[in-house]
Amino acid sequence: MKLAILREIAPETRVAAIPETVKKFIALGASVSVERGAGETAGIADAEFEAAGATIADRATALNDAGIILCITGPAPDSLAGAATGALLIGALDPARRADDIAAYASAGLDPLAMEKMPRITRAQSMDILSSQSNLAGYKAVVDAASAYGRAYPMMMTAAGTVSPAKVFVMGVGVAGLQAIATAKRLGAQVSATDVRSATREQIMSLGAKPIFVENVAGIEGEGAGGYAGEMSPEYQAAQAELVSSHIAKQDIVITTALIPGRAAPRLISDAQLSTMRSGSVVVDMAAEAGGNVEGCVAGESVVKHGVTIIGAVQLARSVAADSSALFARNLYNFLNAFWDKESAAPMLPDDDEIVIALRVAPRIESATATPA
Ligand code: NAI
Repeated sequence: MKLAILREIAPETRVAAIPETVKKFIALGASVSVERGAGETAGIADAEFEAAGATIADRATALNDAGIILCITGPAPDSLAGAATGALLIGALDPARRADDIAAYASAGLDPLAMEKMPRITRAQSMDILSSQSNLAGYKAVVDAASAYGRAYPMMMTAAGTVSPAKVFVMGVGVAGLQAIATAKRLGAQVSATDVRSATREQIMSLGAKPIFVENVAGIEGEGAGGYAGEMSPEYQAAQAELVSSHIAKQDIVITTALIPGRAAPRLISDAQLSTMRSGSVVVDMAAEAGGNVEGCVAGESVVKHGVTIIGAVQLARSVAADSSALFARNLYNFLNAFWDKESAAPMLPDDDEIVIALRVAPRIESATATPA
């Protein structure tokens, strides 16, 4: 079985394999062909892939007869000629927004598997690209806020006087939010956080932050469907807005991460609430691409409103490409390894497996990979 690793196109910076995973695929009996320059923006030279046992080639040669194509973002369908019929195309294919490309992959004879559809079950944790990338993004949001903030995070008692600690408020305590809390704590900030899922209260406290929760109106007990939040009642939204209004005016940095699968991001901060924040404060909206949690946020840009900088954060994992590539690449390896059939040295993807069902975004055609007897 031949694997092709594609070189991504800017603004993507990550790469879907690292020398470590190349070695592991070769140990499984596969051969690996890496498109020339694929690791450049993630700090991996072609020579490192070669030393791990891969061949370096142009795209057409890398794809020639490949049974598995690994990518970060879905490539243009017409750039994939030459792969074996039924070849798996595995990456963050974004089926919700790129339905036409998914259909084009399938009609070109490929079997697209969208890794962001990985079910949130224990068995799949090591294969979960949303978690691995959100974790780094949560870290980076806090670091980006620090560099836009004209003051320090930690309290400092110096001969010239005391510097007060920054107050950081994290809204939405999923994977990114938890890492944002942990990072802001490590940098010495006073951290508080909120979520609609009551299960996060303990997690917030265990990181040494203060939970800020709507009381007396039902939120989501436990984890919600598949661990995700749903849309809240108008009563809850009104209580949350009131709570945020009183808390936010005292905050220096706010990181918002709230997402609802399949819907626009919930609006958590209005323009009127922003105007109560001290000039020089920073808000990082990690939901910018999903419509934003913050009124006035522009995806991919920094705007200043009422003296508050609003950073419309997009794909923050790209700005820590070496680490995010390593985690993404291991997620891909862990997925393929879990389904690897040693005898045929190819993945065997049972049609009735929960993970396979979730990832497969186009009807399966006769595959280059092994199928169960
Ligand atoms: P996400 O990215 O979908 O949303 C971020 C956070 O925003 C969530 O915690 C959500 O509850 C919160 N949120 C939504 N609407 C809100 C509102 N109106 N106000 C305040 N907060 C709001 O979530 P993510 O990071 O994908 O994690 C969701 C859950 O899935 C977590 O419980 C996580 O631990 C779990 N999980 C489980 C995995 C597994 O078992 N394999 C893997 C990864 C995550």
